Amino acid sequence: MSNNQESKELNSTTEEINKGGYFNVYSLWDIEPVKAKGCNVWDTKGIKYLDFYGGHAVISIGHTHPHYVQLLKDQIDKIVFYSNSVVNRLQDELREKLGELSGYIDYSLFLCNSGAEANENALKLASFKTGKKKVIAFNDAFHGRTSGAIAVTDNPAIQAPFNNGHEVVFLPLNDMGAVEEAFKADDIAAVIIEPIQGIAGIFPADIEFLQQLETLCNEQGVILIADEIQCGYGRSGKFFAHQYANIKPDIISIAKGMGNGFPIGGILISPKFEAKEGLLGTTFGGNHLACAAAIAVLDVMKDEDLVNNAAEMGTYLQDQLKGCIGIKAIRGKGLMVGVELEPEYAGLRNKLLFENHIFTGGAKNNVMRLLPPLSISKDEIDIFIQAFKKQTQQ
Ligand SMILES: Cc1ncc(COP(=O)(O)O)c(C=O)c1O
Repeated sequence: MSNNQESKELNSTTEEINKGGYFNVYSLWDIEPVKAKGCNVWDTKGIKYLDFYGGHAVISIGHTHPHYVQLLKDQIDKIVFYSNSVVNRLQDELREKLGELSGYIDYSLFLCNSGAEANENALKLASFKTGKKKVIAFNDAFHGRTSGAIAVTDNPAIQAPFNNGHEVVFLPLNDMGAVEEAFKADDIAAVIIEPIQGIAGIFPADIEFLQQLETLCNEQGVILIADEIQCGYGRSGKFFAHQYANIKPDIISIAKGMGNGFPIGGILISPKFEAKEGLLGTTFGGNHLACAAAIAVLDVMKDEDLVNNAAEMGTYLQDQLKGCIGIKAIRGKGLMVGVELEPEYAGLRNKLLFENHIFTGGAKNNVMRLLPPLSISKDEIDIFIQAFKKQTQQ
């Protein structure tokens, strides 16, 4: 190969590499957070933002909480990871603390790394137990993007043909008649439900619906899976949102707030399931560093009574919102609040972000999702409400 040819090939390779970049699947705000504390983040320009989005419902105890930072740093100095083929007492400590705080002391815990993975394992376990494969899910549900989780997600736009092989029936939320009809066929492995639908725009399931669903599932040996990935871990003002209905699902999937930003997910599993070697498994799930993060979260939730704070601050937030104009509907519980805006306020989220420096979440049909850290204070809610009023009354 001549020198010329060689340099040409080298150049074209370099050009191709330069054409690359992060796979472009997210719509980005041009803001780069570099520091965070409590309910605030700061960007490269030193601008301080109020976080009413919790980084997509993930920040539970507040950004960079000192106890969380300390436990993670201490753990890094000791051991970050070893495989699931050795004893890891941190997993036991996490299970005990989670059981105590959530009221599920008799449930066992399986750890993984994300919400989708948690649901994937929940569905698999339900299918193992019942020997069946049909799953009932609800219209507008979101359960994640892995193969089973996306099959029970009601959004064809994000399903590849590869994901189409599952037997899933979508029913209207809160329609018990439709569920009873579907249960006539004795072929259902599981029902999966978000006790408060998140991505759909914050729609709580009715209390009676959840109760009747539990009864029907118990009567027919169908596994009830509560997807508490977004609405759980204190966000609703109870540890789990389904606890408003006093029900006990067979499997509860958790992630998001569990690690306050460190990737960790899991399922809480009823004693009616028997573990068998090799039934479930993962390389990274339940690693030392992830457990340290999740333990720190539970410590702070307990010490600072954050579940009750979420309940109180959620009520305060909804009361304050009731005095605002531009709102068609307010939905949700605790610090999981959906604000459906009048059409003329469609651009409000961007205005709050770029003019008032407040992050909020969104959902279709002009819904603003408020998902601040569970440690949010009245003063911080007042800042948000003032900005909201300013933007809607101009
Ligand atoms: C209710 C619910 N389930 C599952 C998931 C998927 O979680 P992850 O993105 O961690 O896979 C999400 C994420 O937004 C969610 O809101």
